[in-house]
Amino acid sequence: MKFLIINGPNLNMLGLREPAIYGNRNYATLCTLCEKWCAEAGVECEIFQSNHEGALVDKIQEAFGKVDGIVINPAAYTHTSVAILDALKSVAIPTVEVHISKVSEREAFRQISFVSYYAARTIQGMGFEGYGEAIRWLKAYIDENK
Ligand code: DQA
Repeated sequence: MKFLIINGPNLNMLGLREPAIYGNRNYATLCTLCEKWCAEAGVECEIFQSNHEGALVDKIQEAFGKVDGIVINPAAYTHTSVAILDALKSVAIPTVEVHISKVSEREAFRQISFVSYYAARTIQGMGFEGYGEAIRWLKAYIDENK
């Protein structure tokens, strides 16, 4: 089984970016942890980050037929991107949405998530550990729905 972990804009700035909200750990640490959590779940792992909406859409399209599950933190595009939602619906790969922060308790403009219209589950406010929860949950979800 193979998972694609997708991170959107500014997540490459973790560690520097608003540490009171996103913590002190950097993006490389997040990637190392995701690789570890995938290995523990017995899942092959590819990680992709981009600051560009079209690059995220291209990556989702390329996953068709090659990837069994997607864990995505669309970052700011969560709240704006119909294109990312449509890409996920096009490939129809089981998907979990992750947010490091608790978006439901933040600004009004963060209260809409287009990706939530497709994602099987949304995990928020668990910090980096939310990715681990997403990986384990998605593995079990795919196994159950085979
Ligand atoms: C985020 C929350 C978004 O609102 C924000 O734009 C991000 C990160 C999170 O992980 O908490 O860039 O997706």
